[in-house]
Amino acid sequence: MGYIPFENRYDQMSYRRSGRSGLQLPAISLGLWHNFGDVDDFSSGREIILRAFDCGITHFDLANNYGPPYGSAESNFGKVLRQDLAAYRDQLIISTKAGYDMWPGPYGNWGSRKYLLASLDQSLQRMGVPYVDIFYSHRHDPDTPLEETMGALAQAVHCGKALYAGISNYPKDKAKKAFSILRNMGTPCLIHQPKYSLLERRVEQGLLDLLEKEGVGCIAFSPLAQGMLTGKYLDGIPAGSRADRPTGALRRQNITHGLLEMIRRWKTVADKRGQTLSQMAISWLLKDPRVTSVLIGARTIEQLEENLGSTAAPAFTQEELLLLES
Ligand SMILES: NC(=O)c1ccc[n+]([C@@H]2O[C@H](COP(=O)([O-])OP(=O)(O)OC[C@H]3O[C@@H](n4cnc5c(N)ncnc54)[C@H](OP(=O)(O)O)[C@@H]3O)[C@@H](O)[C@H]2O)c1
Repeated sequence: MGYIPFENRYDQMSYRRSGRSGLQLPAISLGLWHNFGDVDDFSSGREIILRAFDCGITHFDLANNYGPPYGSAESNFGKVLRQDLAAYRDQLIISTKAGYDMWPGPYGNWGSRKYLLASLDQSLQRMGVPYVDIFYSHRHDPDTPLEETMGALAQAVHCGKALYAGISNYPKDKAKKAFSILRNMGTPCLIHQPKYSLLERRVEQGLLDLLEKEGVGCIAFSPLAQGMLTGKYLDGIPAGSRADRPTGALRRQNITHGLLEMIRRWKTVADKRGQTLSQMAISWLLKDPRVTSVLIGARTIEQLEENLGSTAAPAFTQEELLLLES
């Protein structure tokens, strides 16, 4: 028999409105950057996606170049969609992006209209869908007028290939300008996707305030700092972990003694709260109502389930918050 989702899946997750839009996203979303490419095991990826949906995760985040090889995460996600989730398309929020290196030559990278719209067509084809819910400009392109990049997002929405426009990795000043351009084009920006975790807090220097003021949501990527905030590297680099794999984006040299000492201290706070370190790292992001969703990655069902446990967390005390400041 084919896949049948858990009936009570929506009772297990909370949903937060993205800025001042009409769209709600799950407090925890699943990203397919790693673990869903052709180098990975398809059946394991499929199980993670379906388990996520069973747990109320409605939002799956992709990009043109997720894999490896580039494009394969979208193709594999499309396969799961066709096999298992076709009947539930209207219960899913699928996002994709263009902005980083994708194909050779001058039209396969950065922020031109030529690249963004061609890439979106390719993404739709790989996933086998007529539209995505969110189409992002993956990064700001200093050499392309912002009007052109935002114009491509707006056109994607106007022609029905995307329902909402988003931006990712944009610095505060460029984000502000992008919001104004998109609003004037009748396609207000739904969401910004920055890197945000206990170890990466630059968004607190004005970006979160801007998002709140502009009514734009925030979805925090790499909330576990690619696994460092799970504590898994405290006693060395485990076999098969992201830092151990040649295709992993986490470099061994980034896991420094100083970082590990800080993470060890934070783990004692998590222990006292009765949470695992990864659960605490996610709860810490979710304490801020400006964070619409926390965008996790997972290589196994166990990791996914552990991380989902973060939504049932006690509030942070002032003392705990202070201990997590350094
Ligand atoms: N917009 C952008 O530029 C951008 C950039 C990066 C990511 N993203 C998005 O954000 C998503 C998440 O990024 P991320 O994968 O870096 O997120 P993350 O949640 O910080 O790291 C996920 C990785 O940590 C490890 N892990 C997770 N839970 C664990 C647990 N409970 N115990 C032990 N290990 C655990 C796993 O790696 P191993 O087990 O393999 O070690 C897992 O693949 C991406 O899929 C993508 O959608 C966007």
